[in-house]
Amino acid sequence: MSSSAQRIKIAVQKSGRLTDHSFDLLERCGLKLRKSKDHLFCYGENMPIDLLLVRDDDIPGLVSDDVCDLGIVGLNVVEEKRLARLAEGHETLFDKVYDLDFGHCRLSLAAPDDCEYRGLESLKDARIATSYVNFLRDYLTKNGISADIEYFSGAVEIAPKLGKADFICDLVSTGGTLAANGLREVEVLMHSEAVIVQTRAPLSDDKQDLVDRMLQRLDGVLQARGSKYVMLHAPRSALGEIHALLPGSEAPTVVPLDGAGDKVAVHAVCRENVFWETLENLKAAGASSLLVLPVEKMLA
Ligand code: PRP
Ligand code: ZN
Repeated sequence: MSSSAQRIKIAVQKSGRLTDHSFDLLERCGLKLRKSKDHLFCYGENMPIDLLLVRDDDIPGLVSDDVCDLGIVGLNVVEEKRLARLAEGHETLFDKVYDLDFGHCRLSLAAPDDCEYRGLESLKDARIATSYVNFLRDYLTKNGISADIEYFSGAVEIAPKLGKADFICDLVSTGGTLAANGLREVEVLMHSEAVIVQTRAPLSDDKQDLVDRMLQRLDGVLQARGSKYVMLHAPRSALGEIHALLPGSEAPTVVPLDGAGDKVAVHAVCRENVFWETLENLKAAGASSLLVLPVEKMLA
């Protein structure tokens, strides 16, 4: 096996809403990357892991066809490709591993501001422009509605103005694009976010080990992101109440404080954000010297 065949390839969006976050996430996993001159490839300098920078729509196919071992892509794209392959009688050959909690958006139906919308029945026999043909067809079928689906590869939002459609079905994030085009969201078909997908093709032991290691680090980064490290002092008698107030924490560490009598120091990892209100409640329960720190990495 050549050395390039032993390197893992991860497909990442070349430029778009997921790009910066995807790079940030991989760098947090300890990967040091060098971009090629043509910006289509990133070489992993400290691990045998390379990135292919591609259009997001191509990512599920690259992972499915085992050109890439992993891919970071929006669930909206994953679902559209899954349904497209299903319609052609093929199974998808990848699995979703983790939700990545960035790139949140919705796949929605939108109507022109001046159009009266009376629920799904308004879609009957209407023309709907979208690049999510398979997802929309599936949605309409499930709701027993027949409509004309017009495929647009981009700039879907201008279709109604051009007289080419009555409604559109497209991604909505801030809503800015809809508003700028005199459209309003009328139905949400799916909530989406970035996910990591893995090929179903069997990997060599070395590659599988590397994929597992990368996924474990990724899990650590994702868990750390939502976690806080809390330190406080408290009378031993208040420990029960204090533990109950710490959000999503397992057994906290309790250490005696030198020369402070009944007082102990409590350290705990909270798997959720710790709000001011929680700190105030902890204080009311007898805690003092409260500190909340961000968690950078986690390994169970
Ligand atoms: C989507 C969608 C809209 C825009 C909506 O495109 O097609 O154009 O985002 O975002 P907003 O609600 O924040 O205005 P995307 O950026 O994914 O580009 P693409 O369709 O070319 O992949
Ligand atoms: Zn896109």
